[in-house]
Amino acid sequence: MAELKYLSGFGSEFSSEDPRRPGSLPQGQNNPQRCPYGLYAEQLSGTAFTAPRHENRRSWLYRIRPSVIHEPFKRTNSAKFLTHNWDEVDPDPNQTRWLPFDIPSAFTDFVSGLHTVCGAGDPRARHGIAIHVFLCNAPMEKSAFYNSDGDFLIVPQQGTLQITTEFGKMEVRPNEIAVIQQGMRFAVHVDGPTRGYILEVFDGHFKLPDLGPIGANGLANPRDFLTPVAHYADEEIPGFKIFSKYQGAVFEAVQNHSPFDVVAWHGNYVPYKYCLDNFMVINSVSFDHCDPSIFTVLTCPSTKAGVAIADFVIFPPRWSVQEHTFRPPYYHRNCMSEFMGLILGNYEAKEEGFAPGGATLHSAMTPHGPDSKCFNAASTAKLDAEKIAVGTQAFMFESSLSMAMTKWGAETCQKVDHKYYECWKNLPKLFSDEVNV
Ligand code: FE2
Repeated sequence: MAELKYLSGFGSEFSSEDPRRPGSLPQGQNNPQRCPYGLYAEQLSGTAFTAPRHENRRSWLYRIRPSVIHEPFKRTNSAKFLTHNWDEVDPDPNQTRWLPFDIPSAFTDFVSGLHTVCGAGDPRARHGIAIHVFLCNAPMEKSAFYNSDGDFLIVPQQGTLQITTEFGKMEVRPNEIAVIQQGMRFAVHVDGPTRGYILEVFDGHFKLPDLGPIGANGLANPRDFLTPVAHYADEEIPGFKIFSKYQGAVFEAVQNHSPFDVVAWHGNYVPYKYCLDNFMVINSVSFDHCDPSIFTVLTCPSTKAGVAIADFVIFPPRWSVQEHTFRPPYYHRNCMSEFMGLILGNYEAKEEGFAPGGATLHSAMTPHGPDSKCFNAASTAKLDAEKIAVGTQAFMFESSLSMAMTKWGAETCQKVDHKYYECWKNLPKLFSDEVNV
């Protein structure tokens, strides 16, 4: 693929036109009857028309044909492990760990490779989340996908995603993420075994977290978010399929042309990608261990102040220089639910068993923390400044919702590590009559 171009910024008012059609973006109303080059104008609304201006998200697409030209949608079984039925198995409050999810060897593209692991809520009420993994090995051909239910935050772990969207093309590698928002049509081209994670939110869109006393800079900076530039295909393609995820079910409609026919666009409702290497880590330099909220890349807020529908949090390479404290993640019980995945390397709190392409789920109020090996090592280590998490990237989808596992997540995937609880069972009783042990 030729080197791709991007627009830089987060939540900005962008505009882009394919250089093969200069002047395709209307300027003013110099011809109020027709768009340049005979294009159709189509608005994609990501918020209610009347949303406050600072939250309003919409884009105008100037395209060869409007999206409405297609045969009726019909239910399809193309993604048979995608579900929003949270009652398939009994609730399970246990700490859960999955060994790396298997990538199939049979022909599987991004859509048919979507597997729902856990979630909560209902897209019909526009409230909830779903966590999926994608396990695929083949490009989507003569097809595109869009999600009517919410936004996808896509975290590739193995394999590069070549994503074609209505707005242009993105290349997304492991240690990068992409967000494709509700309604945006896209196709994923992969080249060989590919695996990753998806956080889907039904309520609203991801935002950068407020920085409070940190100031104007830090964490994920807006300029590091990249949006593709306009790139159109004027192609007649008989039998092209449009997949729609609608109310948790997948439908397909046939049309006879490429949906990637947007010649120019402008607006602030756009897909984007972000490289996790650009995250500016804020960490303690004196004593004690900060809460993982300091590692929040993106958040989908709820209507309760400070409470997220879901946060996307990373644990990047960083200096650990605190004094007089226990450095690894503390033992805790959390009113939130924590789903973790590993993109590469070893997570410092559990160096065994939590492998790239695997996952853990620590549900609301389920205790968890460093395994006994990590606790013992950190309790005796010399308290020098130390660069930790080098060569690794763990992440967390943290949600205020109490998630249920799907049948695929709990049983069918056959990757649940039923001995996970044993990583804590050898934590010794250290209680002593001596103050200083
Ligand atoms: Fe935790």
